[in-house]
Amino acid sequence: MGVSVLSVIYILSAITFILGLKLMSNPVTARKGNQLAGAGMFAAVIGTIFLFRDSNGELLRNHIWIFSGIAIGSIVGVLAAKKVKMTAMPEMVSLFNGLGGASASLIALIEFLHLKNSGFPADQSGPGILAIIFSGIILGNITFSGSVIAWGKLSGKVKDFIFKGQHIVNLILLAAGILLAALIISNVRSGTASVLFWLVFFISLLYGVLFVMPIGGADMPVVISLLNSLSGLSAATGGFLYNNKAVYTAGILVGAAGTILTVLMCKAMNRSLMNVLIGAFGGGGSQAGTKEQGTYKEISLNDAAVLLSYANKVMVVPGYGLAVAQAQHACHDLEKLLESKGVEVKYAIHPVAGRMPGHMNVLLAEADVSYDKLLEMEPANEEFPSTDVVLVLGANDVVNPAAKNDPSSPIYGMPILDVGAAKHCIVVKRSMKPGYAGIENDLFFQPKTSMLFGDAKKVLQELSNEIKNI
Ligand code: TAP
Repeated sequence: MGVSVLSVIYILSAITFILGLKLMSNPVTARKGNQLAGAGMFAAVIGTIFLFRDSNGELLRNHIWIFSGIAIGSIVGVLAAKKVKMTAMPEMVSLFNGLGGASASLIALIEFLHLKNSGFPADQSGPGILAIIFSGIILGNITFSGSVIAWGKLSGKVKDFIFKGQHIVNLILLAAGILLAALIISNVRSGTASVLFWLVFFISLLYGVLFVMPIGGADMPVVISLLNSLSGLSAATGGFLYNNKAVYTAGILVGAAGTILTVLMCKAMNRSLMNVLIGAFGGGGSQAGTKEQGTYKEISLNDAAVLLSYANKVMVVPGYGLAVAQAQHACHDLEKLLESKGVEVKYAIHPVAGRMPGHMNVLLAEADVSYDKLLEMEPANEEFPSTDVVLVLGANDVVNPAAKNDPSSPIYGMPILDVGAAKHCIVVKRSMKPGYAGIENDLFFQPKTSMLFGDAKKVLQELSNEIKNI
């Protein structure tokens, strides 16, 4: 009876994970999706604690240990999540990924030690089980040590570190770990199996460190998404080990979602995953920073205010600089002011604007900008020709026309927001310095573009004051 109820709970929780993921794809329903999937996981955990029976048909007994662990984890988790600043979210995600990997690795370690202590019984130590255990160890350890380094780099505690030939060393380490694991699986009762097991354990920890160490700071979102997907896959190994449907479904879903997000981010930057993992972005372009660009023109605050006030439609293009300046509230104030004057205001969001997935959406949501004003890249590009003024706020690479018309540019092929199609374009930034990719932007020198120099927040506040006086 208990077992069949538990199976039903697992199936229902798996359905909540899938529906939750679906709901999370839209900012309006994302919170609901998170709660639904959380409720499903809660049911699966409680069901396992009270209904799961081991191979001898026994229920779990060590409830004090289980609930103490849950209580400590919940208190720490809730406090950390409440305390964390929005800007430190990637660090937090990184730590969570690392803990997921560590749990999967510890489960695999304990199961290996169980088997060893009982002399590797033939019926429980087949190649299938051992392969799952080693997958858990290797994936879990890479996720754990890689995520700790990623967390250190994001919080400024760990610096980039690369030595000549590091990528080759990394590949050799990974291959050695997998080969040694295969060797142990093929003859687990040999005298050296235990020593080799620890070697695999430490090699995978070391690989995680060396794999994340050289990756450039601004590429960390891609790496974190990749580590997130690895944490899901390592958790799935735990699910296979105990034949727990809820755990392997959740793990595979996290693995798949993380992989899709990683691929989407790479695509939106027009780079292969390999290029992100082993190559630096920017600076390498043949023409980077050297091309004669002509002259640019500046616009005064007053002229910009007039242009915006008398426009029918204004499109705001936010970028990394908006986040740096924390100008989201000033931007929302300007939007409300323009709307009170009958101007239609929308936002064009590039998928990799900023430095983490959904960066601009999170930022604008924090300032209460309505979701239905946010246009994704394709619909935004359709609306630029009918837009009077585009206001580019601290964005650079995502509006660089070189991506479309300069095959020698490192960002050639990256889809961009085609702001040049609008009637006027005002670019707000502090200087003529390039953005993350380190390359000049032709847009700034085009006849329809005017530069408005200054910190995004300050400029927006001053623009609002000017508009109020018109
Ligand atoms: P960027 O190309 O990095 O340009 C940001 C601009 O903001 C800079 O040119 C800077 O110019 C300006 N800025 C900085 N601080 C400012 C401030 N306080 N006030 C006003 N302006 C300020 O940003 P983007 O257009 O958002 O493009 C994102 C880049 O990051 C892309 O190359 C993308 O591939 C990369 N990337 C994104 C992600 C994700 S997931 N979002 C992941 C990895 C890489 P000044 O210094 O002159 O002010």
